[in-house]
Amino acid sequence: MRVKIVGSAAGGGFPQWNCNYYLSRAARAGVIGVRPRTQSSVAASADGQNWVLFNASPDIRQQIADTPELQPKPGHALRSTPIRAIVLTNADVDHIAGLLSLRERQPFAIYATEQVLAALRANSIFNVLDPALVPRRMLPEDEEIDIGDAEGRETGVRIQAFPVPGKIALYLEDATRPEDNYGSEAGDTVAVRIAGKGHNGSAFYIPGCARIEPELCLRLAGASCLLFDGTVYTDDEMVVAGVGPKTGSRMGHLAMSGDEGSIRRLAEVPIGRRIFVHINNTNPVLDESSVEHQAVRAAGWEIGHDGMEIEL
Ligand code: MLT
Ligand code: MN
Repeated sequence: MRVKIVGSAAGGGFPQWNCNYYLSRAARAGVIGVRPRTQSSVAASADGQNWVLFNASPDIRQQIADTPELQPKPGHALRSTPIRAIVLTNADVDHIAGLLSLRERQPFAIYATEQVLAALRANSIFNVLDPALVPRRMLPEDEEIDIGDAEGRETGVRIQAFPVPGKIALYLEDATRPEDNYGSEAGDTVAVRIAGKGHNGSAFYIPGCARIEPELCLRLAGASCLLFDGTVYTDDEMVVAGVGPKTGSRMGHLAMSGDEGSIRRLAEVPIGRRIFVHINNTNPVLDESSVEHQAVRAAGWEIGHDGMEIEL
């Protein structure tokens, strides 16, 4: 079972197009130890041939160009892809906009929760993916399912999706309901356990998570690998950096550091590899020479980067 991080940055990517913060400047300048990263996505395959993508980022065209496993194979049809299905973990722009780049009458399947499917339905531009060719299937809550291709043939990838504390997509927020997390509901954002038919290991992919509750720790215990929300190092990082007024928690993301942060909350949970993904362009861990980067590594975490591969 192979899991590949195809995009390790949060929305905006790294460097972000309009960002003049020191980190984006360093990435743009090619500073050693400050790797550019594309937006949030991972790929998984049980057989090395059939791939399931988790989230379709706005950088998907570049990601496919950088990932031979996701490209058409010699000898296959003139128009073809090893991407059999795409699972969406929420309706955020960084996770769905890439669907628009996959038009061209190519069959594959989309899996998402009812809320995320509703967001696709409500935006008719997604009909560039003709549902007759690209079926949209509902992800059942907390049920293990075999991911199939457009015709329903098994891909060998099995997943289980379950809600995690998070937030409705920014563009769907109800500004009149701040006390109600802007209208967020369970299922707006999900975690996914990824496994392969006939394989033992499992990986959890959780690019957005607002809190770590005991129930989540119980689920994660014993996993081979965790790919977890690494948006911010400190909750008020974007405010302190001066790039915007929002905290991590306002955006539905838990900080890495602090008493309630992911590093401390997961410290006692037995997990094989723990890797941060969905890293925002303000997060100091993006600079490998930073004290924050060293602290995260010393705590047993890896900082995900594009092209990183995990064998389960
Ligand atoms: C998030 O992860 O909070 C969103 O991707 C933010 C956004 O929509 O840019
Ligand atoms: Mn995001």
